[in-house]
Amino acid sequence: MLKQTLIEATFAGAKILQKYFNGSFTISSKSNINDLVTQADHESEQAIFEVIRREFPEHYILSEESGEFKMDSNIKWIIDPIDGTVNFANGIPICCVSIGIEKDGKMILGAVYNPFINEFFFAEKDFGSTMNDKRINVSDKSDVLRSCLVTGFPYSYLDEPNGPLEVFDKLIRHNIPMRRLGSAAIDLCWVAAGRFDGFYEHNLKAWDSAAGFLIVEEAGGTVTDFKGNYYSPYQPNLLATNGKIHDDLLLVLNGKWNLDNSKR
Ligand code: IPD
Ligand code: CA
Ligand code: CA
Repeated sequence: MLKQTLIEATFAGAKILQKYFNGSFTISSKSNINDLVTQADHESEQAIFEVIRREFPEHYILSEESGEFKMDSNIKWIIDPIDGTVNFANGIPICCVSIGIEKDGKMILGAVYNPFINEFFFAEKDFGSTMNDKRINVSDKSDVLRSCLVTGFPYSYLDEPNGPLEVFDKLIRHNIPMRRLGSAAIDLCWVAAGRFDGFYEHNLKAWDSAAGFLIVEEAGGTVTDFKGNYYSPYQPNLLATNGKIHDDLLLVLNGKWNLDNSKR
């Protein structure tokens, strides 16, 4: 029942994305002028809430645009009603609904759906990950210098040692193909599907990564913070890889290796 409701809620949100995409909708700003929220974000969120509350009115909900509805429940829904809002607002079809479900503090289910290319990613703890009902697995590349990576950048410039630009600079100086899709949830799913060998990002929020991190793990990948600790969506930094390039990327993220030949 929980699984069915998760799927129904994800599709209910996605229907709103389809309704407004490339049409007219209101847009406003949040933390800065380019941190956007649209009418579709709010409506998608409401459509998702409606499905959840119909079946499970007692569950705890954490959702990007409405915040927290604290309930005395061991089940928590973590919702991003549109991940990739800037893409959505510009008519770029790389955006999705992302919903993770935690039980007793552990992620047990995750769903990410991009309706524009009809890709539905799903994971259940210990039962693997699927895309449109077919099993997916991470890639098996083991050389970071031959890998294809993706990252994202926070809405506000992060000026700190080993910050987003410093790490990006090191990687592109070694001609590593780097991509920036603009949706952390899709970045994670594409690591799970083996399209990317790794994804890192500074300063994510729980709703960006809750579902995607389980989808990567269940596809055989590794997800940690930048210190190599087991990932928690409540801290900001995420590294998700096929596992084989994980330690090398941790060195790069911590300024301990410039990708020259001197590391090992
Ligand atoms: C954003 C996207 C983007 C990432 C940002 C997120 P939003 O989420 O996932 O790829 O770089 O850090 O905030 O605002 O589109 O839900
Ligand atoms: Ca997001
Ligand atoms: Ca969002």
